[in-house]
Amino acid sequence: LKQVHLFAGLSDDDIQELASVVKRRAFRSGEVIFHRDDPGQVLYVIKEGKVKICLISPDGQEISLVVLGKGECFGELSLLDGLGRSADVIALERVECYTLQRSDFHSSIMRNPKIAIQVLEVLSKRLRNTDQQVEDLIFLDVYGRVAKKLLELAGTHGVQQPGGGTLIDMRLTQSELASMVGASRESVNKVLGYFTDKGFISTDKHRVTVHKLNDLKRRIY
Ligand code: CMP
Repeated sequence: LKQVHLFAGLSDDDIQELASVVKRRAFRSGEVIFHRDDPGQVLYVIKEGKVKICLISPDGQEISLVVLGKGECFGELSLLDGLGRSADVIALERVECYTLQRSDFHSSIMRNPKIAIQVLEVLSKRLRNTDQQVEDLIFLDVYGRVAKKLLELAGTHGVQQPGGGTLIDMRLTQSELASMVGASRESVNKVLGYFTDKGFISTDKHRVTVHKLNDLKRRIY
């Protein structure tokens, strides 16, 4: 629990107290952890694995808002505003979480202002990212949006490869990427083909490796 951003700065006693109320839950790859509009009573903190936060339109189109990994939390919005879940959350691989009930979350915040500050920090970061996404949707073309998303994923989920390049450590299909950048699969296919031809990236079994970060950066305008 000490390694979780949300609980950074808590004393050993506080961590002990928290440990006595958190539970553990595991989810299979592909399992829906909850749906948008479900009532929310629990905060999740990722111990292991990755989840996708997404919105699905009535005709089944998916917008992927963000992929969260180890140490990050989700489900805080419903606990704070009392409304239903704001998005679907799906496990992208086997996921283990710590869960905290609403009443324990609230009493932890009341007892530890540090937790409240960390929650505000998480919300601020998410709001900034959302602003950025809106800006990108309006001002960048699909080449720019794909380049930017690949760089972002290489930064957050990247693993340096011994032979050079940064492997994005998650299954990334063209449809998946399309739902992240708000574009059709066909146009993402075209962009990935172009980046591959230029040697900026390579793809293998739905995994993308970025070879030329600077060239990709230059493609963002
Ligand atoms: P909640 O609304 O309870 O359930 C869905 C969760 O997804 C939400 O809490 C947040 O934890 C998370 N979430 C929703 N929108 C975003 C976003 N734009 N960026 C990061 N996380 C989000």
